[in-house]
Amino acid sequence: MAEAKKLFIKTYGCQMNVYDSQRMADALGNSGYVPTERAEEADMILLNTCHIREKAAEKVYSELGRFKPLKAANPDLKIGVAGCVAQAEGEEIMRRQPLVDLVVGPQTYHRLPAMEAAVRTGNRAVDTDFPEEDKFDHLPRGPRAARGPTAFLTVQEGCDKFCAFCVVPYTRGAEVSRPVDRIMAEARDLVERGVREITLLGQNVNAYHGAGADGTWTLARLIRALAKVDGLERIRFTTSHPNDMEDDLIAAHGDEPKLMPYLHLPVQSGSDRILKAMNRKHSAESYLRVIERLRAARPDLLLSGDFIVGFPGETEADFDDTMALVRAVHYGQSYSFKYSARPGTPAAERATVPDDVASDRLHRLQALLTEQQRATQDAMVGRDVSVLLEKPGRLPGQMVGKSEYLHAVHVADATARIGQIARVRVTKSVTNSLAAEPV
Ligand code: SAH
Ligand code: SF4
Ligand code: F3S
Repeated sequence: MAEAKKLFIKTYGCQMNVYDSQRMADALGNSGYVPTERAEEADMILLNTCHIREKAAEKVYSELGRFKPLKAANPDLKIGVAGCVAQAEGEEIMRRQPLVDLVVGPQTYHRLPAMEAAVRTGNRAVDTDFPEEDKFDHLPRGPRAARGPTAFLTVQEGCDKFCAFCVVPYTRGAEVSRPVDRIMAEARDLVERGVREITLLGQNVNAYHGAGADGTWTLARLIRALAKVDGLERIRFTTSHPNDMEDDLIAAHGDEPKLMPYLHLPVQSGSDRILKAMNRKHSAESYLRVIERLRAARPDLLLSGDFIVGFPGETEADFDDTMALVRAVHYGQSYSFKYSARPGTPAAERATVPDDVASDRLHRLQALLTEQQRATQDAMVGRDVSVLLEKPGRLPGQMVGKSEYLHAVHVADATARIGQIARVRVTKSVTNSLAAEPV
């Protein structure tokens, strides 16, 4: 048997890309590729890219430049660009970086084996279609190797919301939900391979409306069905839009014990004027009302948010509204960004806020968010939490995992095993993690 070819994938961007990278590795497994962690020994390098902000896109080109010596050392090495930069820039990538053999968008990676064969015969291949067929349908079932205790599962893709700043509707295409039976089958397979926690993924995951045997299912119904799968202990989902936070999903946070008390619910701004300019289609007030209802259902829910500062037209008063909203919600986790103009989006045409002003606002916002994150974490000390153990810690007799609230927890217990859910008492809060002992 010929020696296996080696595949090196580097992943940028959101969790959906992490999931896609795994599926790309599955697809190329059929063409004889095994994964490697070392680019130097690869026969194929794939960069699974992100186009969300300018810096993310530029990183791809600087990374590609670094592969030049590898290609010189191994003329058989093939280099591919996948993901959202591939979708946005297509063939342009090959013009800018002639090292690239293959460009594949996020909706066509099931065609990778054929593209790989084409580049092996010396051709270049570009595929950035939004095909009719379902990419998930065409993927081979990967080798049923054991998996770690946590996994992502994409249930919904694309976005029809068209926020004025965002490239996702263009790079990922229209909203599509995967059918219920496929998701259930994939979840059962993951559980058989050792997975105990599944995070359901979608750019707008709570807009899920997949075909079930008896009509269209909501995300809440899907979660309740998944909760009945034996061996699956925890369910999470991300990312949600405030406008799709329906009653049944809010209720599930209150009465479905396997649904973890953590919710990422981006708001972007606390100013109604800016929210309107962003085309978010919700107000600060309506967002706060959703949070209120969620907390009524699940009082200990840990909330996470995304924020953009320096959106075109943002004044100091608008920024104050964002700070006020953050104070009103009190986030346990958050991600905040300086606005980055993206070619092709409506906001890119508008006058920008000076960079020093935006940077200053970002610093002030991040100081507040960090303070809230720290306070939320510190408040865990003395409480009992459940930790799904994922790997050994750095110290002997220590294991690391995540609590219900997604805090990283170091558990001092020499008898603990990976995949076990340990009931522990939090003893200490340090930067970005908690320490705990068995109860
Ligand atoms: N689908 C998700 C995530 C979109 S991208 C959602 O709707 O929330 C993740 C985050 O990146 C966004 O929530 C937003 O805060 C940020 N983002 C998107 N486009 C951006 C841009 N042009 N500049 C700066 N941040 C951006
Ligand atoms: Fe982008 Fe808005 Fe869609 Fe989220 S909801 S992916 S921010 S367009
Ligand atoms: Fe980036 Fe595409 Fe995800 S632009 S954030 S990788 S959907």
